[in-house]
Amino acid sequence: MPNPEISKSNTNINNLQDYFERKKNFDWWSDAFNQMDWLPGGGLNNAYEAIDRHVKNGFGDRVAMIWVGKNDEEEQYSFLDIKNKSDQFGSVIRGLGMERGDRVFIFMDRLPELYISALGVLKAGGVIAPLFSAFGPDPVRDRMEDAGAKYLITSPELRNKLNDVLPKIKTLKNVIVVNKNGRHDEVLVDGDLSYETLMESEGGKDFEIEPTSQYDFSIMHYTSGSTGKPKGVLHRHQAVVQQWLTGKWALDLKFDDIYFCTADPGWVTGTSYGIMAPWTNGVTQLIYEGGFGAQSWYKLIEKYKVTVWYTAPTAIRLLMRAGSEVVEKFDMSSLRFIGSVGEPLNPEAVIWGNKNYKMPIHDNWWQTETGAIMCANYASMPVRPGSMGRPIPGVEMAVIDESFNPLPTGEVGALAVRPGWPSMMYGYWQKDEMYNSRFKKGWYITGDQASIDEDGYFWFQGRADDVINTAGHLVGPFEVESALIEHPAVAEAGVIGKPDPIAMEVVKAFVTLNTNYEPNKELRRELIRFARDKLSAGVAPREIDFIDTMPKTRSGKIMRRLLKARELGLPEGDTSTLEDD
Ligand code: PRX
Repeated sequence: MPNPEISKSNTNINNLQDYFERKKNFDWWSDAFNQMDWLPGGGLNNAYEAIDRHVKNGFGDRVAMIWVGKNDEEEQYSFLDIKNKSDQFGSVIRGLGMERGDRVFIFMDRLPELYISALGVLKAGGVIAPLFSAFGPDPVRDRMEDAGAKYLITSPELRNKLNDVLPKIKTLKNVIVVNKNGRHDEVLVDGDLSYETLMESEGGKDFEIEPTSQYDFSIMHYTSGSTGKPKGVLHRHQAVVQQWLTGKWALDLKFDDIYFCTADPGWVTGTSYGIMAPWTNGVTQLIYEGGFGAQSWYKLIEKYKVTVWYTAPTAIRLLMRAGSEVVEKFDMSSLRFIGSVGEPLNPEAVIWGNKNYKMPIHDNWWQTETGAIMCANYASMPVRPGSMGRPIPGVEMAVIDESFNPLPTGEVGALAVRPGWPSMMYGYWQKDEMYNSRFKKGWYITGDQASIDEDGYFWFQGRADDVINTAGHLVGPFEVESALIEHPAVAEAGVIGKPDPIAMEVVKAFVTLNTNYEPNKELRRELIRFARDKLSAGVAPREIDFIDTMPKTRSGKIMRRLLKARELGLPEGDTSTLEDD
């Protein structure tokens, strides 16, 4: 049953917390599932929920996207425009032979075509795998090979970065190149297809949405662990239910909002909250192609009268460093709500926000694997600076001990979630064992450490593994180590996160050298450059130390924890036996 209310969004409830208390035993998920506009035949499609549904409900003229390019170009798209263009792209990709479940990689800056093609693929039944455009060739190749990528949608300059690696991806059928507004002299690599030409030849009028089920795969994001290469986290169309609901609950999205999410769709925040949550709630999104800039962001908020802003702690720390004087130059009185995710948000940042933006910054917590917000400081509840808030209704979270039993209030342990929330990952792509290892005694183990206070607020205490969180992006040490040892000088590499006042952590490597190589400044610089070219500036080590021997366990595992303890001048613990964990 179509429910026009979904287009109107919001609950009109001023105090959500009281409302949740009163409806303690309410089945939130069934209710939310009932509010989706199921496809004829009983299917569910997240792109349809985000875009087409509003057109069907008579809201096609509303502005869905205000796009601002890096050279200040501006384009606006209504829900109807996006519906038509994504239908067109859906026809294009089907015409190329894409079948339900095929993995389509999108490696592009934040251009309108990224969103249009992503939605088109989803409506045609494909699985999108967007990648961060700052990646170097190695991470792109690893991910595309792992997923058996069938199609790649990219832009000319990013295509160039991949010239050496694409021929190695044997499953790849087509590369589609978007030449935005003819920015580049179009020189297509032999065999590549032009997005513009394909779109011109395809009306999209006869496009019919694939009758996907709620269980069909829709989006895949790669995430890093402490061991092995990043793994593909598979999400299903049903994740949209929780993305929609948490858009209302945790980000306070209302129908008339102008929403600015600073995350890139290469990361999960940029799809769950940069595509699904805002558009299912019918709000207008401001999408900015450019990167961070205090002045440019404030200018955008002023000019487009942004009301809800979702960003990350590293950005907030940079804004704090830019200072109050910069804030004062702009009229940001349109802002109503600020949210933050991805790293711990320092209590000072919440207080600074209160003083400078006249409202607190609302921290919330979730992961690529959870697909949507799990725990939040809601607009209607008092923010506890430094805490990531309380679990959303329908989500059971706990802090558990080593035997997987809940710990008393205030004690630090493993942060766990009871499985069964709608946006929960389906699996890690072709890594069942790894997936299964995340579930213990009826809990999903998040990999984070936390504690709970007497009022049920959760407090992040750190990660339980070696994964590095730099500027809100997770970096797997293994991926960096693997890149470094490809250099002929490097015998072994151990990589850790070194605390940093802005980025939370920066990547630091310790390397031992092969004989005939001298540790010196030039080699250090060369290794950093080597890693940057392969990986990306954000993932490559910012610092490298040469060491004589690599500390290892008896079975040969590099003891990153020991490297970190040494780096921080902390006690090294008992290392006499150097046993495995
Ligand atoms: O360690 C936690 C940290 O980021 C991890 C999830 O990263 P990712 O899968 O890339 O997803 C990021 C966007 C949701 C978590 O396991 N993290 C996320 N939010 C917070 C956080 N750490 C502290 N406080 C948060 N609010």
